[in-house]
Amino acid sequence: MNPLYDIKFTEAHLAWREKAHEIAVKYLLPQALQHDKDSTFNEEAFQAAADAGMLGTWIPKEYGGSGDGIMALALMVEEFSKADPAFGVAFAVNALGSLPIIVGGTHEQKAKYLPLVAQGKAACAFALSEKFAGSDAGGLSVNATKDGDTWSINGEKKWTTNGSRANIITCFAVTDPESRSRRISAFIVEDTDPGFSIKKVEDKMGIRSVPVCETVFDNVQVGDDRLIGGKPGFGFKHSMMTLDLARPGVAAQAVGTAAGALELATTYACRRKQFGQAISGFQMIQAMLADMAQKTEAARWIVYATAAHADAGSKGVTKIAAMAKCFSSDVAVEVATDAVQIFGGYGFMEDYPIAKFYRDAKILQIYEGTNQVQRMVIARNLIKESSRHDYLNSVIPGETQESYGAEPVTANS
Ligand code: CAA
Repeated sequence: MNPLYDIKFTEAHLAWREKAHEIAVKYLLPQALQHDKDSTFNEEAFQAAADAGMLGTWIPKEYGGSGDGIMALALMVEEFSKADPAFGVAFAVNALGSLPIIVGGTHEQKAKYLPLVAQGKAACAFALSEKFAGSDAGGLSVNATKDGDTWSINGEKKWTTNGSRANIITCFAVTDPESRSRRISAFIVEDTDPGFSIKKVEDKMGIRSVPVCETVFDNVQVGDDRLIGGKPGFGFKHSMMTLDLARPGVAAQAVGTAAGALELATTYACRRKQFGQAISGFQMIQAMLADMAQKTEAARWIVYATAAHADAGSKGVTKIAAMAKCFSSDVAVEVATDAVQIFGGYGFMEDYPIAKFYRDAKILQIYEGTNQVQRMVIARNLIKESSRHDYLNSVIPGETQESYGAEPVTANS
């Protein structure tokens, strides 16, 4: 049977959501368009989030956080993204960059770095993707070689979100090129480490206020104390475990994007008059709004279910995390597109806020694993689970053939 997700909101969760809404209204809504235009980061909003203690919400209490988990992260990212999806992703990626330390770090690494993140003294980035290794996250070429006690990290990363703002960069590098399953290790790189630099800040279609960078690791030298978990070869696993916990964050960004676009479209439809009445009175507009609302609400609850599942420490979060990311990002793109339609000609103008939602939405289907990768992950898990449905064999007519469910499924299958 499918698991039932026990979705619970604590008082702390609701308080974080309320606080995020306040920050969104005070600092994000009035400034989002200008920051987008200038490609500048909203430092004021980030500082307000830090001052409110929000940067420690997903960090365990023993390492200086509030221990409110992925649910708190999702609720806050949704509220931020309703006002400015770009800020939503900057916030979510701060968590993403710290998660490899949470899931795989030694006690010493957690004790050194996580309190700094929780206090807002260090911002994080996650350096996995490369020019020639995007969906194929195992095909990295950035490498780390060991001489004595020192690792030297060399190569370039691409699309490092928050790259130029980050103080802690979790970097994935090849340490054993001959191995299939233990090829990659994860390292903690500090922005002040000699050899780390920013090569380029990308010029993007959307989420323009967040710096997405090409990062260079030119003989960056670190000791074993920076090798996440202290043992080489676990980097790929740690990256996948991290993405399982981080995808609800980016999915929450998608829910916020859809919800923000829906609120704007509804408000505008009630205000805009054509043929002598508000366009919200027309059934075709009402049907659009109703469909946008249904999709947004469905996306919201799959995200909450995923966050609850992740926080319960339950096994098997991979499939629902992929579903949450894929479904909610498709919804965000559809809802933002319809919202522009409701704004009509004004929707196409950059001095109205809705065009930015449309531009910001698209990347959601691409980053943190393309939606093609998410569908592949979902299907692989469905096939793995198919033996649970053996009781159905009796109702499917025809001869029983050998089951393929347990066969290994490759990336190309
Ligand atoms: N948890 C733990 N272990 C996992 C796992 C998971 N969720 N998924 C896979 N693994 C393990 C497997 O068990 C296997 O281990 P063994 O070798 O010990 O058996 C190993 O990892 C390899 O697994 P696969 O054979 O499934 O690996 P694959 O090469 O076929 O690829 C993939 C899997 C799902 C396609 C993966 O490469 C992937 O997720 N790609 C997308 C990468 C991605 O999301 N990039 C986003 C970058 S971050 C970003 O975008 C942030 C931003 O800017 C906003």
